[in-house]
Amino acid sequence: MNNFSLYAPTEYVFGRHTEERTGALCRKYGAQRVMIVYGGGSIVRSGLLERVKNSLATEGITTCELSGVQPNPIDTKVYEGITLAREFKPDMLLPIGGGSVIDTAKAIAVGYDYEGDFWDFHCKRAEIASALPIGVVLTIPAAGSEGSTSCVITQVSSKIKAGSHSDLIRPRFAVMNPELTFTLPEWQTASGITDMMAHILERYLSNSVDVQIGDRLAEGMLLAIMEVAPRVIANPEDYDARANIMWCGTVAHNDSCSLGREEDWTSHAMEHEISAEYDATHGAGLAVMMPAFLRYAAERNPHKIAQLAHRVLGIADTGDLHADALAGAGALKTWLHDVLHMPVTFAELGIKNPDLELMNTRLHRLKGDVMKGYIHLDADDTLAIYRLAL
Ligand code: NZQ
Ligand code: ZN
Repeated sequence: MNNFSLYAPTEYVFGRHTEERTGALCRKYGAQRVMIVYGGGSIVRSGLLERVKNSLATEGITTCELSGVQPNPIDTKVYEGITLAREFKPDMLLPIGGGSVIDTAKAIAVGYDYEGDFWDFHCKRAEIASALPIGVVLTIPAAGSEGSTSCVITQVSSKIKAGSHSDLIRPRFAVMNPELTFTLPEWQTASGITDMMAHILERYLSNSVDVQIGDRLAEGMLLAIMEVAPRVIANPEDYDARANIMWCGTVAHNDSCSLGREEDWTSHAMEHEISAEYDATHGAGLAVMMPAFLRYAAERNPHKIAQLAHRVLGIADTGDLHADALAGAGALKTWLHDVLHMPVTFAELGIKNPDLELMNTRLHRLKGDVMKGYIHLDADDTLAIYRLAL
């Protein structure tokens, strides 16, 4: 096991009616002026925004609002938010929504005090040195941004989708009421479940040895997801199933199962090119890329994929690692397709003639000539993986 340090100070406030405690939580973390950030209006229609604002008003907290954050959030909305924040001078940002809203708030939080362009943090020209505190009200379990150190934004002019990372952007608190997720359409629920499975697998696919704690945590979470997901799909108002999925989305990405090991992140890097170019839903893009990557990797470095196949995906141990790993890759693809009703090819994702060369060129411009994860991949390899997803 490799050395590690973990700083994960987020207070998770989980369960029914917890959104009513948002105002008190903002107060607890020292806020008096809160900038609320949200998306296209689901929280207006559900009445959640009103309830949260009432809770803030009860605590005497002054607010302003930035609305209209779109899925696959963009830099221009971040600039709008930084301008508004500099006028309003909040002492906390409060995203209410999912990864797109939270990440927009994170980017505003680090851009607020920074003299340069916040995009410097995404293209690694600068390191994050300060950030406004963030509290979250989560409405979709998926990206795990409520507990993560990451912030993923697309630069509109270049169509580059890239992340910044810092302990400073882990939220101070995250309010998580599974009932708030009852209104999610099946597509968003299933895309979110796929994303959390990918967050687990990106960590699981590792050449680090003697990392049994991380492996078993990952396997346990995947088994739990596969047990509970059909219930959520069948009955979106199954509270306990929703609760399990919601908590899993957080633990999948708050680094609990990634400590002391190398990580992969190939499927994510390849997917970000799809959502940047075609505005695909992130989790659905992963349902296309993850099985293609697993199939390619199964032939070149089968040990971890075969272990996954045996322990999680119900594949019998034949003694042939390559064959078992390939069977595992196929089983996961079938499960995503048949149980979650996810697209598993570009065509099913609605992209008829994807420009694979363009995405591949951008991928390596961002990630270097050779991506060194679970297997090493040059431009020919990643192009072959994109082709497997056609
Ligand atoms: O905008 P509104 O109207 O609120 O609708 C949203 C949006 O259209 C809707 N929604 C959310 N909660 C709802 C709801 N609809 C009905 N009822 C509810 N309770 O869902 C849609 C998707 O929202 P979004 O925030 O985009 O979802 P998600 O959490 O999947 O976030 C995806 C973004 O996060 C990034 C992705 O790349 C993508 O840009 N990621 C961020 C990560 C991080 N910061 O750690 C890691 C991930 O790997 C990922 O890359
Ligand atoms: Zn993801």
